[in-house]
Formats: sequence, structure tokens, C-alpha cells
Amino acid sequence: MDTADLTEQAKTVLANNDKDGKYTIPAAGLYPHQWLWDSCFIAIGMSHFDVDRAKTEILSLMRGQWANGMMPHMIFSNDLAHRQDSNIWRSWVNPFAPDDVKTSGITQPPLLAEAIVKIGKKLSLPERRSWYQTVYPALIAYHQWLYTERDPHNEGLVLQIHPWETGLDNTPSWMYELHEHQLSWWIHAIGALHLEPVINLFRRDTRFVPPEQRLSAVDALALFSVQRRLRRKGYNIQRILTHSLFAIEDAGYNAILIRANTHLKNIAKAIGKKVPQDLADSMKKTEEAYEQLWDAYANQYFSRNFVTHKPIKVPTIATLLPLYGGKITKERAEQLVQHLLKASEYKSSFPIPSVPLSSEWFNEFDYWQGPSWVNTNWLVIQGLRHYGYDDLADSITKTTLDMVSKSGFYEYFSPLSGEPAGIPHFSWTAALTIDLLQK
Ligand code: GLC
Repeated sequence: MDTADLTEQAKTVLANNDKDGKYTIPAAGLYPHQWLWDSCFIAIGMSHFDVDRAKTEILSLMRGQWANGMMPHMIFSNDLAHRQDSNIWRSWVNPFAPDDVKTSGITQPPLLAEAIVKIGKKLSLPERRSWYQTVYPALIAYHQWLYTERDPHNEGLVLQIHPWETGLDNTPSWMYELHEHQLSWWIHAIGALHLEPVINLFRRDTRFVPPEQRLSAVDALALFSVQRRLRRKGYNIQRILTHSLFAIEDAGYNAILIRANTHLKNIAKAIGKKVPQDLADSMKKTEEAYEQLWDAYANQYFSRNFVTHKPIKVPTIATLLPLYGGKITKERAEQLVQHLLKASEYKSSFPIPSVPLSSEWFNEFDYWQGPSWVNTNWLVIQGLRHYGYDDLADSITKTTLDMVSKSGFYEYFSPLSGEPAGIPHFSWTAALTIDLLQK
């Protein structure tokens, strides 16, 4: 398919997922609300053809911001058909949640500053300054929240309390930790009694996508049970941390934060402001602390348990995200690129698999346990360009676009055959395709 056709088709996907010109749902049916990092990727794609609409996408996200600065990972639709969904979260149990919109009680990777800057690039200088001035207070409050709430010991690394916060729902590092330490007896029992088909009857995702392309029923239940626990604690981080050991300093999340911090500093500079000193100190600390995640034997960074500091030595796509973070040394970057080039790890016909091909977790169609995703490809491509690996970035861009033009704007793809999986007409696949098509 030629590139003009692909762009037009991608725009149609976004137009069909548009809600009143204000925000974009990830996909009809399965995902009828607004999601945080989805909207950031969507705004990046939109900035190429409708920069005002891209701004609106970001401003719509800011409707959901909590009074303490948190950006929730979901903002619920008010449509009659989906209004009940917010009852799962009941954001109103926390005093900081907004009154006029209902949201989730957790966050997602901090891509907001990236989207703001990508939009800024499309604006004239005076327009850009005014755009940055508009969003700056919310962005500062968000990054301050990330440190005050999520780095309680001032270690430099921020913690996550649910795998949904990493955006990679059933990523093996988190599922490993969950199964090791956190699975309730009744969830074990359901697995042992083979009650999974019964559980699947009550699931929403498996109504839209074949069960073998989603989390297992036991894992899905486990994630909902963690969510219930967070809700019982009113999404109050002190209460959560007092009662649970399930908190992880995720290598992928912190890498994305490092890049976001760099953007935030540039935004401040562009409008003649200085990032508050305590925040600037924390940002610096993150870059230094990140190195503690390095594993000299495996030659990669691993997430670690927040409480015990024990590394979780389960390789996933997060391994490659420090390239995107952009603050590791050239030597480290080269070591990570070597993983990308290995046929036993990430070098497949349609890269980049979300776990290494040789991993015991690998399954070509199973959600974040094997498939290639356009958003993580996009992040890695940015990182490769940052470190000067332009040929490799070009080649992954090409195979990503081949995969999309061959199979459509699906949620994810087999890294072996490029065959589609998950839900079709998926917004970030469309939006980032538009971005990747730019030269
Ligand atoms: C899934 C993905 C998550 C995404 C959401 C909406 O939960 O794992 O990253 O934000 O769907 O598309």
C-alpha cells in the first residue's frame, strides 16, 4: 500500500474513534474511555494533520488530573452505555479525585511531556510559548506528584503499584512477582479447579478478542484483585504501602520518566521558567539511581521490588526503553542494542517482540508476552535515533509499517509472521503509523 493511502486510512481510524472532537478512545467496544498514554501517542500522530485537535486531546486528559497532581490512567466516558464502568474504580473514595469526571485511581507511563513537545514542534514560536504556558502548571504538578507520592524514600526511582501502571498489563516481570508473592489462596484455587472458562464468561475483553490472545483468567482475576485492594485503601499511597509488598520500581516506567523530565526542563526553559529546585534535584537523582538497575551479568537493566530492592530478573521489552530515556552512556546503549540484534532475543521477522523469543514466557499472540506493539516499537525507534543508530531505526520503522500495511491497524502483531492480534482499528497503532511515515 502506498504511504498516502496508509495515512488516509489511519486518519479514518482516528476519526471513527473520536468522541465529540474532544478525545479519542483506543478502540470501539473493548476500550470506550480515555486512556492516559494512549491519548499521548494519539496526540503525537494527530499533531501532523490537526495540531489544534492534538492540543484538545491533551487538554482533555488534564480534565482528569487529581488535586494532588496525579494523572489517572483512565477517564470514564459519560455515555449511558458505559457509565457503570466507573463503579469498578470509584475514584470518589479519594478526596483528591475531581468531582466532575470519574477516573481510575492509578496512573500510566509519563508520556505527557513528550506529546506536549511534539505538538510544540508544529507551532510557531509565539504559539509554542503560549501552548507551553497553558500546560506548564499541570505538568509540573504531575511530575511533583510522581516524586512526592511515588518516591517516598527519595531514592530517585519512582514506584508503581499495579502492572496496569506500566501500560504492559501482563508483562512477565510483573506477573512473575505477582505469582511469587501476591496471589490470594482463592485465585490459586480457581486455577487448580480449572474454573477458568467460567471466569471468562464474565470478562469483557474476551468478548471482543479470542481468549488465547489475552491474559489467562487467573492472571486477569489476580489483576482485578490487586485493583480491589488499592480501592479498599482509597488509593492512599501511605495506606497501600503499609499493607502491601507489591510495589515495583519498573525499569521501563522510570526510563520514560527520564525522557519526560528532560522535556519538562526544556519546556520550562522555553518559557523563561525554572523547574522548582526540589523537583530538579529529584530529576537528577533519577538519572543516577537508574544505574542501580543494571545487571552486569545479564547486560541489561531490570526492574526491582520497591521494598526489598531485589531485582526481578525477567527480561521484557522494558530492557530496551533506557535507549528512549536517553541518559545512559553510549557503552550501555550499545550493550542494549546487542540484545535487539540477537536472533534468540528480539530479532524476529516483525520486531520488536515484547519478550525475548527464547523466553519461557514467549507466546507470539499473547498480549504483552510476545507480540510486537507499535507503541513500544516507536519508543525504541526514538531511542535508537537519539544514540545515532539510524540504520537500525530505519529498518524497524520499515518492518513496523510493513506489518501494519499487511495486517491493518491492529492492537498488536505476531513478531514471527506479522499476523494481527487483539482489537482492530486501534488508535495508537494508527496515530503512530502517521508519525512513522513522516520523513
Ligand atoms: C491495555 C494496554 C494498555 C492500554 C489500554 C488501552 O490495557 O495494555 O497499555 O493503555 O489497553 O488501550
